[in-house]
Amino acid sequence: MKARIAVIAGDGIGPEVTAEAVRVLQAVARRFGHELSLEEALFGGVAIEAHGDPLPPATLAACRGADAILLGAIGGPKWSSPQVRVRPEAGLLRLRKELGVYANLRPVTVHPALAGVSTLRSEVVAGVDLLVVRELTGGIYFGAKTRDAERASDLCEYTAPEIERIVRVAARIARTRRRRLLSIDKSNVLETSRLWREVCERVMRAEFPDVQLEHMLVDSAAMHLIRRPREIDVAVTENMFGDILTDEASMLCGSLGLLPSASLGEGTRGLYEPIHGSAPDIAGQGVANPYGAILSVALLLRHSLQLREEARAVELAVHRAIDDGIRTPDIAAPGQRPASTAEVGNAVLAALG
Ligand code: IPM
Ligand code: MG
Repeated sequence: MKARIAVIAGDGIGPEVTAEAVRVLQAVARRFGHELSLEEALFGGVAIEAHGDPLPPATLAACRGADAILLGAIGGPKWSSPQVRVRPEAGLLRLRKELGVYANLRPVTVHPALAGVSTLRSEVVAGVDLLVVRELTGGIYFGAKTRDAERASDLCEYTAPEIERIVRVAARIARTRRRRLLSIDKSNVLETSRLWREVCERVMRAEFPDVQLEHMLVDSAAMHLIRRPREIDVAVTENMFGDILTDEASMLCGSLGLLPSASLGEGTRGLYEPIHGSAPDIAGQGVANPYGAILSVALLLRHSLQLREEARAVELAVHRAIDDGIRTPDIAAPGQRPASTAEVGNAVLAALG
């Protein structure tokens, strides 16, 4: 098949991990006989430096014209003081909104060889296989903001259609797994959460009677997530809760650097990014963990290009590399010489054959 991929590597370790992900993508395409055309574009802080805009029109056009977008990471100390007016993060939010990718899938699986890497006991994390479906284009991230010297506000708003569509995405996936859906909200306090819970129940009763629905308050879910993570199959939640809970969930695997994500809308075009940030403290050293970026390539192949076998091949190659002990410093075993970012890429390429 032929496909167009926009590559927006961004800031910090973004370009380093994306370079490995791109090598893997190109290798899979070669091996399975696909013709991919890759278009690189400036995004985030580097785009602010060059054009004064984190999402320049040419970058948005490249993303719109692509079948899928591979994103690295954005942000850095240069653009993080409260006084900065144009922020890389604003570009990311605008991109998600412009592309309409409201469903953010964040799978969290613990690789057997890495169960000991987590700060949690291995018997708690072994066998974890959960998916957080995070609403990505609504809620407090996108509500009106006000600010003067003494007062600030961020509005959290959700509409019933926004809740319905994300619940449907999560429930459809739950059907292909353990047929259980955990909806996370704060309905004891927030009006948006009360609407969330009502709409969720209505959709599930009418359309997914075969999927068992459970509700949990977000504070309790945060606890449950590290207490009995194996019990969770598919969880669906609003934008900010999903942001927070998935960083927490990454610690089940041992490192934020391991987790990929897919952001999808109504069509097949999707935005694929590791869930980690730009990690400016280690940028440029060649030590960043590219597994999350490489696994994002697998999600891209599966969800945007419908290439299931190819996606599986990438995941198996990653598993093989991990089994072979190829680990960056964040997941290295005590006393082990850690692998570099490029060595991880090499190992995955070798495993791909
Ligand atoms: C994420 C990130 C972003 C978010 C930031 C960079 C805006 O933390 O993708 O989880 O909060 O959505
Ligand atoms: Mg986050």
